[in-house]
This record gives sequence, C-alpha cells and structure tokens, in this order.
Amino acid sequence: MNEVQPPQSALAPLDEEFAAAVIEGLSHAQKSLPCRYFYDARGSELFEEITDLDEYYPTRTELAILREHAGELARRVAPGGVLVEFGSGSSRKTEILLDAMPDLAAYVAIDVSESALEGARERLAACYPNLRVITRVGDFRMPLDLPTELADAPRLGFFPGSTIGNLVREEAVGLMRDMASTLGAQARLVIGVDLRKDVARLLAAYDDAKGVTAAFNLNLLTRINRELGADFDLSGFAHEAHFDPDESRIEMRLVSLWPQQVRILGRSFRFAPQERIHTENSHKYTVEDFLALARRAGWSPVALWRDPAHLFSVHELIAS
Ligand SMILES: C[S@@+](CC[C@H](N)C(=O)[O-])C[C@H]1O[C@@H](n2cnc3c(N)ncnc32)[C@H](O)[C@@H]1O
Repeated sequence: MNEVQPPQSALAPLDEEFAAAVIEGLSHAQKSLPCRYFYDARGSELFEEITDLDEYYPTRTELAILREHAGELARRVAPGGVLVEFGSGSSRKTEILLDAMPDLAAYVAIDVSESALEGARERLAACYPNLRVITRVGDFRMPLDLPTELADAPRLGFFPGSTIGNLVREEAVGLMRDMASTLGAQARLVIGVDLRKDVARLLAAYDDAKGVTAAFNLNLLTRINRELGADFDLSGFAHEAHFDPDESRIEMRLVSLWPQQVRILGRSFRFAPQERIHTENSHKYTVEDFLALARRAGWSPVALWRDPAHLFSVHELIAS
C-alpha cells in the first residue's frame, strides 16, 4: 500500500529556490553552495556508489551497528507506531528496522531526491507488501503533515547516515528541535552520528581513490549547468576534501584551477585561480559534544551504540 504525496509547497518552485540559493551562495566573498542540491538523480546514484567504497567506512559501520541492536530498539517501540525517516535516500538501512518492527502502522520517508524515494518505494512495496509506505518529496526542515488516522500513533524518528553532520551546530540543534515537535512528546529518535577520528582516515573517506566523491561533488556544477543554463567548465574545477580541526569537520570544496568567469541566469561570477566553492560540511562529533546538542534540542539519551573501533555512533534519544 503506497501513497505518493505531491511536493510540499515550500519546495514546489524548486527551480526558483535552487536559482536563488546558487546566486546567493556564489555572491559572497567565500563562495558556497548548499549541499542538499547534490541529490538530483545522478547525485543520489553517486552517493549510493560512495557508500560501497572501501574508504567510506560510515555506511557499513552504521549498518553493522543497526543489525546488532535493532532487536533491542524494537522492544521499546509500541506496535502501531509510525517510523519517520529524514533524508531517507535509498532506505536500505530502514529495512533493518522494518524487519525488527513488523507491527508498524506506516513508514514515512522524506527526501529531496524524488528518484531516490521512488526507487525505495518500489523496492519496499515488493519486500513489505503489507507495509503502508508514505513518501514525501521535500526538505526535512519543513513541518510534516501525516494522514489524520496516523496523527495519534507513537512516532519513531530515524535519521541515519550522519546527515546531521552536514548542518552547522546551531542548525543541527534547530533541526532536532523541529524533529521533537514534529514527532511529539515521548517520541524516540534514532540518529547516526559520525565520530571524530584520525584525520587521514577521514580525508580518504571524502576523497576516494576511484574519484567517486569527486564526481559527486562536481555533479553539482553539472546540475547548475543543466537546470539553470549555466556554463561551468567542469575541467576547470577540482574536488578537494579538507579537515578543519577547530570546527571538527570535513569540508568539501570545488577549487577553480585557473581564472575564469561563469554565466548563470544572466549574471557573471568570476573565479580566481585556487578560489574555492565550499559545497559541504561533515561535522565529526565526540559522543559528549553530540549529546550536548541533542539535550539543547529537547532530547534525552536512552541508548548509545558504537562499533568496536568507535568509528561511528548510533544514538537512541527520547523527547523530554
Ligand atoms: C548522507 S545521505 C544519507 C542517505 C541515507 N539516509 C543513508 O543513511 O545512507 C543524505 C540524504 O538526505 C537527503 N537530504 C539532504 N538534505 C536534505 C534536506 N534538506 N531535506 C530532505 N532530504 C535531504 C539526500 O537526498 C540524501 O538522500
């Protein structure tokens, strides 16, 4: 049983919103582009390729943690609950929870990538024919309306993939606060958070030998060319991953290789040689730092699971 909802109104004028974000981001002295625009159909495909790379430890590590602890988690979730996933992508991790919680009333998947949601919806319909699947194409920062018959069902939020790390700390607190009000009193949130570690390992995860992460980063320029009629010369930009120890985050950037000018929607943007466009942050937390943010957002810890090498953490939180 599947329901496809129309795009949420805040994202309906996607091109205008995208155009405004690109123009704004490239107009500052420090040029930047919002990372949520990575995920067009090709970007979502490339992200899935990244998750299989040897260097990219987060996905396989989080999957192993979830497999080990899903049973314990499921024992604390009331039957008839609704599983709400933010930034669900392919929903592959979700299957671990769905297998452990056969009595859910519905699974709600929210993502900006329509193609990823569609692929997930088709696969889940085949694997879980009795599960009610609701997909929402849109920004997970927007309020969520659920069908009235589900309004009183207990809610379990799921936010894997360390997507929380893509937000700067204050935005992360704001998003988790919004999730607490969306999910309601006594709701639970299962959230995957990448941990601070050896810098060489982090850099390799964001700059792999096969160049898949580079292709993912550069695809943003391809998208701007296609959707906004821009004329970025992709050979004039290179992928870069940098670790900022003060912010404890990996920054992905696109580096201009020579002086150049790009036309976007009738405007010109100049790039000096070695000038960078900041395209993504991936914050790496200690457990204590992350829990301090979660507490500020109205969540209390219930359980913490890590792999033996403490590469990645999965937190179960309860709305306080
Ligand atoms: C790092 S990937 C994680 C995907 C998946 N949850 C996982 O754990 O493998 C981030 C996902 O969030 C989605 N996303 C990013 N920003 C978003 C936003 N503001 N609103 C909704 N979805 C977003 C992307 O399309 C992508 O599927």
